Amino acid sequence: RSAPPATLVIFGASGDLTRRKLLPAVESLARHNRLPNQFALVGVARTAMADDQFAASALGGRNLNDKAQLAGGIRYVSGGYDDPETYKRLAETLDALDAERGTSGNRIFYLSTPAEAFEPVINGLAGAGLNHAREGSFSRLVIEKPYGRDLETAYALDGIVHAAFDEPSVFRIDHYLGKDTVQNVLALRFANSIFQPIWDRSWVDHVQITVAETLGVGTRGGFYEHAGAMRDIVQNHVLQVLALALMEPPASFDAEGLRNEKVKLLQAIRLPTHRDIADLSVRGQYTRGGTREDLMAGYREEVGVDPLSRTETYAAMRLNVDNWRWAGVPFYVRTGKRLPARVTEVALTFQRPPHLPIPQDQLTGLEADALILRIQPNEGISLRFGAKVPGHSFRVRTASMDFSYEQTFPEESPEAYERLLLDALLGDPTLFIRSDEVEQCWRIVDPIIEHWANDQSPIPTYEAASWGPADAERLIGRSGRHWRNSV
Ligand code: BG6
Repeated sequence: RSAPPATLVIFGASGDLTRRKLLPAVESLARHNRLPNQFALVGVARTAMADDQFAASALGGRNLNDKAQLAGGIRYVSGGYDDPETYKRLAETLDALDAERGTSGNRIFYLSTPAEAFEPVINGLAGAGLNHAREGSFSRLVIEKPYGRDLETAYALDGIVHAAFDEPSVFRIDHYLGKDTVQNVLALRFANSIFQPIWDRSWVDHVQITVAETLGVGTRGGFYEHAGAMRDIVQNHVLQVLALALMEPPASFDAEGLRNEKVKLLQAIRLPTHRDIADLSVRGQYTRGGTREDLMAGYREEVGVDPLSRTETYAAMRLNVDNWRWAGVPFYVRTGKRLPARVTEVALTFQRPPHLPIPQDQLTGLEADALILRIQPNEGISLRFGAKVPGHSFRVRTASMDFSYEQTFPEESPEAYERLLLDALLGDPTLFIRSDEVEQCWRIVDPIIEHWANDQSPIPTYEAASWGPADAERLIGRSGRHWRNSV
């Protein structure tokens, strides 16, 4: 499908996400001729900048003439987000672009600002009438995370959003859904018949979802202090991946079919009770660590971070899904900054065979069967199973069948933001978060965040470049299981 004429307006145009992800995504779409010929890009931010300067950063220093779809169609509007004049100037710019470039009055407003600016920008757009599209055109709102900071603020934000845009025009971003390997969870489960029969409580012992990062908070300390690992990663990326991995098969992959199944799964997640919350969740904060050559600062030493901060940079929890497919199966999820490896994966560990006709001493080195979906890096899938070790005895050891994206497919994977920007242009909300999904995700993490906020004991720590606080091992060890640190 080809994208319709449109102008993409990015609020927060001078910000980090715009520079690192959004502009390269637009440039790459243009380079691959995926944008319509009638396309324009407008940056809006408080920082003053000339059109040319913004165009140069949007095109990454490449020659304008090479980018017919973008050349001449880049504008910059500077102004305060709560100043009505900003939106007046924006409206004039948009009208002029419609006339010059034939963008047909179609607009996509992308909110890539700090969350505090969401409300003034939406109100500003509505004040200038930009939320209402002309007859036959569209006006869409793409909104970055964090979508609220708990259930209550997410509701409040929905109120503000829905006062200006109806739900089908709202595209809430979770960039994990734009990753090919996350979409491949659906392909693996529903484009094949061999996995579905074992994808339930009769065969699966437990599931682990890991989003481990080696990076610290970098320059985002100020933002992170108010977020923490639970809000930054678990509420969105982890729960989205979990929902795709555990939901029922949808009748079709359209927006409502897919999102209905995700919501049903999220609704089935049991909330921890006041009594068991401490046993089911773990937080931690990284301290100075690493090697002598590569010594990494502790979280409290990072720029923009309170030296007495209690913000978690590691979060883990055990979840239960109360439905027929998953009753009784524990799901362990964890995420952290400054862990020893960068890895995002979903690992299903299967039950041991009911009876092993092989003596125990022949089985050292045999782990439980597992299917590992590696979202990143080394994107691929591994099936781990027992195989006979060559030789005269009957020793069985774990072996692995590996599928690697890179080796199997010569095709290049588009960046997550490229895919999502194009979907927003096409008006396809399948890979965006519906309002009820956001609410379900907050419902799940809120009690734990609240429990931590009220817990006066010192926050558990872990050394940078280690696999998290000791409590994390206890969380999973209680049931005799272990985290997969084998990566
Ligand atoms: C973002 C978080 O949503 O995801 C960051 O705010 C995190 O803290 C990032 O580093 C991870 O994304 P990716 O695509 O690098 O796994």
